[in-house]
Amino acid sequence: MTTSNISLPRIAVLATGGTIAGQAGDASKTAGYKAGVVGVDKLLDAVPALSQVARIHAEQVASIDSKDMSTALWVTLGKRINVLLAQDDIDGVVVTHGTDTLEETAYLLHLTVKSEKPVVLTAAMRPSTALSADGPLNLLNAVTVAAHGSAAKQGVMVAFNNQIHSARDVTKTSTYAVDAFRSPEVGALGWVQDGRVEFQRAVVRRHTAQSQFDLEAALPSVEIVASYAGASRAAIDAFVAAGVKGLVIAGTGNGSVHATLQQALADAIGKGVAVVRSSRVSSGHVMRNGAAPDDALGSVSAGTLNPYKARVLLMLALAAGITDAAAIQQIFDTY
Ligand code: SIN
Repeated sequence: MTTSNISLPRIAVLATGGTIAGQAGDASKTAGYKAGVVGVDKLLDAVPALSQVARIHAEQVASIDSKDMSTALWVTLGKRINVLLAQDDIDGVVVTHGTDTLEETAYLLHLTVKSEKPVVLTAAMRPSTALSADGPLNLLNAVTVAAHGSAAKQGVMVAFNNQIHSARDVTKTSTYAVDAFRSPEVGALGWVQDGRVEFQRAVVRRHTAQSQFDLEAALPSVEIVASYAGASRAAIDAFVAAGVKGLVIAGTGNGSVHATLQQALADAIGKGVAVVRSSRVSSGHVMRNGAAPDDALGSVSAGTLNPYKARVLLMLALAAGITDAAAIQQIFDTY
């Protein structure tokens, strides 16, 4: 679908599914619906005010529940965004997505989009058929941000419930509330309301046009293992036997690791597997050599990246041929 008002910015809306495109048999239902079934044209038709904000170019890239997001779809989406943003007649991109893995896709794009034009992801907690569906306003706000001059060079963003978050910092923090996203420690980048966009801080870490990463090489297998009371080494040993190239530990506290797992990780590192220590705690950072001896072990600390985002960065680093622990630590200190 394309709308016309030649003086407005032209924004590409790429739909991938999610609850924003969800449908329930009963308008009072906000759970037990099917995600990713409503097409992009119908999502746009539900927001007539979009025609006052931007000219829309729409594409249906996928129709999935984002729990089923794959690395293959990441590559398809990322490459399509780069093609669109290289066009003079596209001023920004909005991606509609499920909330469940939104933060992973957003961070992958933050590291692989090769443009300073805005890329904004949005989603919804209530299906499109629900009473008080949150998708239409989130979509309008996402397009408003993508069409706004001040959104350039901010990297990939998430517009949700009137807030604008950086892809690097944002995480889902509620299973049901419409204010489901937060950026722990650092807070939102800014806000959007009634057509007004304000940024309150800038993104300081490297991203998008300044990032060294791309989606050309195949993304290697990287898995996540949690540490907890009574943890066994079975999962780590199975992943290593399956040929995994990297492991991210969702450690306790400051990325501390159960002694049983720490021995399994030392063995994995000895076999050439890259290991990154993150934390299962939802805010704060993991200090290098803080709660585990990274120097002696040959592991890397994830800093403020949660396990899911640490996995994305480790996959991209390994795909770029960066395998040495010191070089991977440098990457985690930079992005
Ligand atoms: C999904 O992630 O696709 C389903 C859940 C949601 O969008 O809130």
